[in-house]
Amino acid sequence: MHSKINTFQTLSPQLIQKLEKIVGSDHFFTESPVLQDCSHDETEDLRFLPEAVLVPGSTAEICAIMTLCNKERIPVTIRGGGSGLAGGALPVAGGIVLWMKRFDRILEIDAANFQVTVEPGVVTETLQNTLREEGLFYPPDPSSRGWSFIGGNVSTNAGGPRAVKYGVVRDYVLNLEVVLPTGTCIWTGANTLKNSTGYNLTQLVVGSEGTLGIVTKIVLKLQPYPVQNLLMLAPFNSAERACAAVAAIFQAGVTPSALEFMERNAIEWAKRYLGDVNITIQDDVQAHLLIEVDGFHLDGLYRDCETISRVLEQYGCHEILFADTDSSKNDLWRLRRNVAHAVKHNSIYKEEDTVVPRAFLPQLLEKVKAVGAEYGFESVCYGHAGDGNLHVNILKGSLTDAQWNEEVPQGIREIFKFVKSVKGTISGEHGVGYVQRPYLDVIFSEAELNLMRAIKQVFDPNGILNPHKIVG
Ligand code: LAC
Ligand code: ZN
Repeated sequence: MHSKINTFQTLSPQLIQKLEKIVGSDHFFTESPVLQDCSHDETEDLRFLPEAVLVPGSTAEICAIMTLCNKERIPVTIRGGGSGLAGGALPVAGGIVLWMKRFDRILEIDAANFQVTVEPGVVTETLQNTLREEGLFYPPDPSSRGWSFIGGNVSTNAGGPRAVKYGVVRDYVLNLEVVLPTGTCIWTGANTLKNSTGYNLTQLVVGSEGTLGIVTKIVLKLQPYPVQNLLMLAPFNSAERACAAVAAIFQAGVTPSALEFMERNAIEWAKRYLGDVNITIQDDVQAHLLIEVDGFHLDGLYRDCETISRVLEQYGCHEILFADTDSSKNDLWRLRRNVAHAVKHNSIYKEEDTVVPRAFLPQLLEKVKAVGAEYGFESVCYGHAGDGNLHVNILKGSLTDAQWNEEVPQGIREIFKFVKSVKGTISGEHGVGYVQRPYLDVIFSEAELNLMRAIKQVFDPNGILNPHKIVG
């Protein structure tokens, strides 16, 4: 079974009038710069212009919009902060974009139950900071947290550095209010920590990248805020040895709250991009591990750091830098969080979000470099080593367009085949969206793909919601 060929309609003057009436003329756009703003996210240099952008203000408005668009076969793409790296928010089939930025309220902090109910357009870091004032902790912290929306984080099942100890967004979503593509509004679950009642619609929607429904309310579970943390930066003269140290840290009995890997170029480019971080990188250093431990009692954290240091020394790390002030910790995290921007600033690139069982990380890095040598591309690798999640940034450099468009994808396929062979997968946290679709056959059998196509069909019989994404 293949997804059916959808015939979409363009916006007629009558339809434009009806849509404008639903959201109000202040929130309805058919011209630049808004159309241009919504034509791209952070994915490569891809752009697709929508016909109109709507900024809805209520769930009822979204129900009305979807009822109309479903009847008239108008493609609808949901947009959050626009930080996506797999093209999930690209309006590939034109149509309308629903920009969720007016859904920006934290509706209820339920401290007694360690829960928060939030609208999808709240910026992730704003949510985290507001909760922190109450001593509450929402751990997932993608690098884009300063501008990504919590709704987008739910849609991609985002991760970030802390996932290694605390889990990904999926692990915090209890319940969702969702408008289906047909215009009906549902709740997917219950506000409970346990739920064995029927199929898990909540988790089906999490990570579905705006292809199954439009999330309009999110109930998240929380934790007490861990008030203490220690951070260290460990340089290595071999990237493979740095990767090999990762699994050994866990085997020594410590679970860091972050265990990040950065190749030399990643940290060096981020340093140059930011311009105000003062750290020295010795000539023979090839990679760094950035390691954080957190909790409530400093003495235990110091013991964890001693254990980690002993492991790192066994793997030949150079002198470890301990960040002991808030500002030095901030600097190191700013470097790490800005690697993606720095790479984008330096070259056209393709980002691959590979993930393998953690102990296969050294082999994954070796494979990436071997494929690069074969196909003639340079790569900058970094990411969430503790999760076995390596962001492989393939640089266009001096490759011709033909090499870039035809040969490099073959190399990517080889990397993905390796990932599959060690029971990993092709996206750990960025999603499939638009750009990883051509590679889904490496990971899923036809039977598995058909199951996903059938699910899509049940939710979205006319295929209007976020077309050309995942299996749609
Ligand atoms: C990061 C983003 C790119 O880890 O996922 O910085
Ligand atoms: Zn990441």
